[in-house]
Amino acid sequence: MSTLPTTHKQWRLASYPESLPTEDNWALSEGAVPAPGANQILVRAVYLDVAPYMRGRISPQKNYAAGVKPGDVMLGGGIGEVVQSNTKHYQPGDIVVTDFGFGWQEYAVLQPSGVRKVDPALAPLPYWMEAFGLNGVTAYFALLDAAAIKPGDTVVISAAAGSVGQIAGQIAKLGGCRAVGITSSPGKAAGCRELGYDDVVDYRAEQDDLPGAIRKACPNGVDVYIDNTAGVISDAVMQNLAPHARIVLVGSISLAGRFGQPDIGPRFHRQTLIARATIRGFLVSDYLPRYQEARDRLVSWYRSGALKSKFDIAQGIENLPRAFLRLLNSENVGKQLVQVGDDPTAASGLH
Ligand SMILES: NC(=O)c1ccc[n+]([C@@H]2O[C@H](COP(=O)([O-])OP(=O)(O)OC[C@H]3O[C@@H](n4cnc5c(N)ncnc54)[C@H](OP(=O)(O)O)[C@@H]3O)[C@@H](O)[C@H]2O)c1
Repeated sequence: MSTLPTTHKQWRLASYPESLPTEDNWALSEGAVPAPGANQILVRAVYLDVAPYMRGRISPQKNYAAGVKPGDVMLGGGIGEVVQSNTKHYQPGDIVVTDFGFGWQEYAVLQPSGVRKVDPALAPLPYWMEAFGLNGVTAYFALLDAAAIKPGDTVVISAAAGSVGQIAGQIAKLGGCRAVGITSSPGKAAGCRELGYDDVVDYRAEQDDLPGAIRKACPNGVDVYIDNTAGVISDAVMQNLAPHARIVLVGSISLAGRFGQPDIGPRFHRQTLIARATIRGFLVSDYLPRYQEARDRLVSWYRSGALKSKFDIAQGIENLPRAFLRLLNSENVGKQLVQVGDDPTAASGLH
């Protein structure tokens, strides 16, 4: 094993963004590599996460979880290699993943209770931060529990070419549903079809009559809507509800530039009443006691060839804020990650 450096790079929040974040909202700094205390491990980052929820965490507005303050190291999940261990549960060389606890930095001291061990023989490391991570679990429970999909349902999913969206579309198909994606470009629409979506609506190309384009793709109406975006896409879907439609509010990324301001748009009380629809807010953390059930099933779908993910992997710790902004600009295709260190499993032929 190579010798441990004494310092490492860390991204700290420089200021709260007032509208859409820019790279200047973060600053790259150099800090001492920390030493693990009793019952702790020191982990070298391999892949670090960027995800839309981070927009809410860099705002002073009320949120469902604590935020990052200016000066703090930016929070975020990561997957990495244990390089020092003061616990019998982990050995140097083990690969571990954490959903939020790594931070945008090259090394982190972590508690064993805050990480999961990864079996790299089962799947490449990026999958453990995606299909088998929070986004896979989100798609799983949003469809199978909150929306309670049934065979024959027409399931519409916004941000369909993104991470939650690509898994949600495949779970809808596994559940015997018709999957209709909504995304921003012909290239992304083609990627959705490759992963099994039956039809895809390009919301930019169809902006003159988005409700009409959704009606064409869903002639019998929308039974389930997995709302990853809010905004004009959701306004258009709400014009097309089937009786007893179930709407699951998973994300609101279209509001990223107007954080904390009122979400102004057409009202849809009448459509909701006529369809006797149910609208439900969704937070994956409510399912914490059942994460393992979801992960086991997602791993087995992947191993059987029934579940695939596309990845968009930026290189270098310098690119973390830029990679995050790609999500807000619709530039990512599939799950956006940033590789900040060597992947020790990549050359091993483990998968
Ligand atoms: N509630 C929960 O527990 C939970 C858990 C995980 C994720 N989420 C939410 O799930 C959603 C997807 O997350 P993800 O990690 O899978 O990200 P992602 O879909 O991989 O990336 C974000 C995508 O959002 C779309 N987007 C960006 N700006 C937009 C805008 N103004 N209007 C419409 N679409 C826009 C873009 O896709 P297009 O190319 O289609 O525009 C972009 O690629 C997010 O809203 C996230 O907050 C919620």
